[in-house]
Formats: sequence, structure tokens, C-alpha cells
Amino acid sequence: MSQQATRVVFVCLGNICRSPLAEGAFAAHVKARGLSERFDVDSAGTSGYHVGELPDPRSMAVAARHDVDISHQRSRQFLARDLQDFDYVIAMDRSNRRNMLALDRPNGNGAVTLLMDEVPGAVKEVPDPYYGGPQGFDTVWRMVDEATEALLNRILSEQP
Ligand code: 4NP
Repeated sequence: MSQQATRVVFVCLGNICRSPLAEGAFAAHVKARGLSERFDVDSAGTSGYHVGELPDPRSMAVAARHDVDISHQRSRQFLARDLQDFDYVIAMDRSNRRNMLALDRPNGNGAVTLLMDEVPGAVKEVPDPYYGGPQGFDTVWRMVDEATEALLNRILSEQP
């Protein structure tokens, strides 16, 4: 990671289902454009339920079907200082956004935004697929793949 890297973190509740997929999809879009050196990409959960664990096998499977490997990821809990340390803090849903904002004052760069705000007209929250069937993970993949590409375009327009 270079000093000038733009730091982006994706946040859900457990950091095993949705935000690992968002991290993987965003990193894949960054890599496809040859911009990996310019970004430091991470994900975290507002809960500590799954700290240290691999992504959910269903998330690893759907990512792998799209040629994205997320098996190096391990769950970690979101920290108050992440609000300062990251340039872009991206929540999967309103409840996790609220939980982050309750930790501290956010950074000056636009605070905590919802991932799906990147896609005009889309549903505003990435649904939690944890208790559902495998098709929920396909839905999450489609949503985060489209939204993270839009996010990358926005960041590049803000930091050309
Ligand atoms: P995630 O999904 O927030 O997308 O990682 C969940 C994972 C675990 C739990 C809830 C949601 N849980 O209650 O353990």
C-alpha cells in the first residue's frame, strides 16, 4: 500500500456474507482497470460475532463463480477509528450505518454512505442473506457487483 492509496472499507453486520463480497467485487473492478496500487480495500462488521472467521462458504462460492477469490479474507470488527482512517466508509444497510455513526464522528470526506446509493433507483439496502437460501447470495453478488463499479467510477471522478 502506498502512502497515497485511497482507503475504502465495506461494512455489514458479521463481515462474513455481504461486505466480503463487496470488498471482493470492488477489488476486482479496481484490478480490471489496473489500479490496484491506488487503492487499499477492506471490509468489517459492526458486530464481533464472527471475528477471525473465513467468509461464509456461500459467499466464497458465489464469488468464485464470478472468478473472484475472497478466501484470504478474515472477519474483523469495525472500530471507531476506522471512521477517521478510511476515505470511504460504505455501509450495506441503514442499521449498520447507524451503528457506525454511533461510535464516533465520521471523517470529513462524506461520512458513511450506503452502497446502494451508488445506483440510482435501486433498493437502498443490501439484504442480509445469512438465514436464507443460496439464491440470496446471487442477489447480493449482483447488487454489490453493480454498485461497487459505480462507486469506483464516483471515486475516480472525485480523485482523477
Ligand atoms: P453479514 O451477514 O452481515 O452480511 O455478514 C450476517 C452474518 C452473521 C449474522 C448475521 C448476518 N449473525 O447473526 O451471526
